[in-house]
Amino acid sequence: MKVLFVTSEIHPLVKTGGLGDVSHALPLALRQAGVDVRVLVPGYPSVMARLGKATALCTLEALSPIWSPARLLEAQLEDTGLPLWVVDCPSLYDRPGGPYQTPDGRDWEDNALRFGFLCHVGAWLSNTPAPLSWSPDVVHCNDWQAGLVPALLRHRQGPFVPSVITIHNLAFQGNFDPLWVTRLGLPMDSFHLQGLEFYGRLSFLKAGINYADRITTVSPRYAREIQTPELGCGLDGLLRHRSADLVGILNGIDDSWNPAHDPALPAAFDDRRLAAGKRRNKAVLQGECGLAKDPDVPLLGLVSRLTYQKGIDLLLEALPVLMAQPLQLAVLGSGEAVMESRLREAASAYPGRVGVTLDFDEPLSHRIIAGSDLFLMPSRFEPCGLAQMYAMRYGTPPVVRETGGLADTVVDCTDDALRERKATGFTFHNATPDDLAAAVQRALATYGNRTGWRLLQKTGMRRDFSWKRAAADYVGIYRALSGTT
Ligand code: ADP
Ligand code: GLC
Repeated sequence: MKVLFVTSEIHPLVKTGGLGDVSHALPLALRQAGVDVRVLVPGYPSVMARLGKATALCTLEALSPIWSPARLLEAQLEDTGLPLWVVDCPSLYDRPGGPYQTPDGRDWEDNALRFGFLCHVGAWLSNTPAPLSWSPDVVHCNDWQAGLVPALLRHRQGPFVPSVITIHNLAFQGNFDPLWVTRLGLPMDSFHLQGLEFYGRLSFLKAGINYADRITTVSPRYAREIQTPELGCGLDGLLRHRSADLVGILNGIDDSWNPAHDPALPAAFDDRRLAAGKRRNKAVLQGECGLAKDPDVPLLGLVSRLTYQKGIDLLLEALPVLMAQPLQLAVLGSGEAVMESRLREAASAYPGRVGVTLDFDEPLSHRIIAGSDLFLMPSRFEPCGLAQMYAMRYGTPPVVRETGGLADTVVDCTDDALRERKATGFTFHNATPDDLAAAVQRALATYGNRTGWRLLQKTGMRRDFSWKRAAADYVGIYRALSGTT
């Protein structure tokens, strides 16, 4: 079974959130399940800088006259040896800033072209007959950035391989001016309600949902939620229409997130050597985040993109109530300017008690997840969420809103659930500051009961969140689509 995995992020080369983690861990798990997988990514500077030994497979000018010189490079990810195919097109990808945005946080104006080209390369590699000696049995597209691949395949002459699209976040749709339809080589007669059109715009994600053979998303609960007007982002009707081909497969987490051998941590620990390791990590974290050194005060951690989705405003509004009791808060995040400045204000309002780092800092994210007592994720919606699973693995029970993958992975700490060794965290129902504060309150009460708290931590640490099960589900889909074993 050969699979081309098309994605716009891959950790550790480029990551803005969970997509980067998944695009590394899932292909590795697929490889372990016997799949010959190639990951196709754009050649951003951070990718090119860490490619190591790369060979040029071919040039790509032939794909269309509108883009400038480009090559396809083959390399392997250091450490894991995962095969990477990199689209090296300096005019589109060799820029400062992030994968989607300028250094000052605006979307790149030519994103339709930047990711349209990625899709063209993905579709070209998925044509039959194949242009190169390696050709996929299935093309697996991720999020809007790869969403045009199924549409490009469908609108060409001749046979092509089946496609799967995974929706990691329905809120990001890649909607652009319709002039891009023909610029990107798609026929204008595909620009209609049942095709590429979404409220008068060309939608990459809608194209993927319409034309892919299967649609997956990253948790079973989110698969149901996106078929409702509340969380369907305007695409719920189409998703209901395609519900027979839509499935939710819960993400896993990989072993690079393991407190027993995490190079970012000052002290290693596991579920049998828990107390001393957590204490040392907490002390170092308090120092690093400018918090008072106190082993006993409960420390709440948060690591997040700062967007509406993540409910950071709920936390900010709950802060006066929360801070009326002895606790500390360590925040690491980057994103919307308003939230960044509100967090800065919170840090100066509670010196020594609220520590805020406005950055994207991978090692610090590990230390916050390891050194905190509780991990906050008050998301308004959450397709899967990986951070809460990392927190459980690191003995840091999460407080989460009961939505999407958070609801699928965290078992609320009722007395019965704790006794039966099922409870792993605290959930709350409504996206309100009051509900969040009440859940934190419950968590603090349990924190006061040492035996109960240890049980809660250990139950979370022992939960199996491995990728094996998810990989098997994806392989099942690939097989059903391609007839290949
Ligand atoms: P999402 O993909 O919606 O951002 P996930 O929980 O699936 O949410 O994944 C987020 C990933 O990004 C986790 O690995 C988390 O630790 C990481 N992350 C988020 N913000 C930061 C940050 N500011 N610095 C470092 N890592 C971050
Ligand atoms: C998206 C979602 C997040 C999910 C991640 C990986 O960024 O917001 O919930 O865990 O993708 O699938």
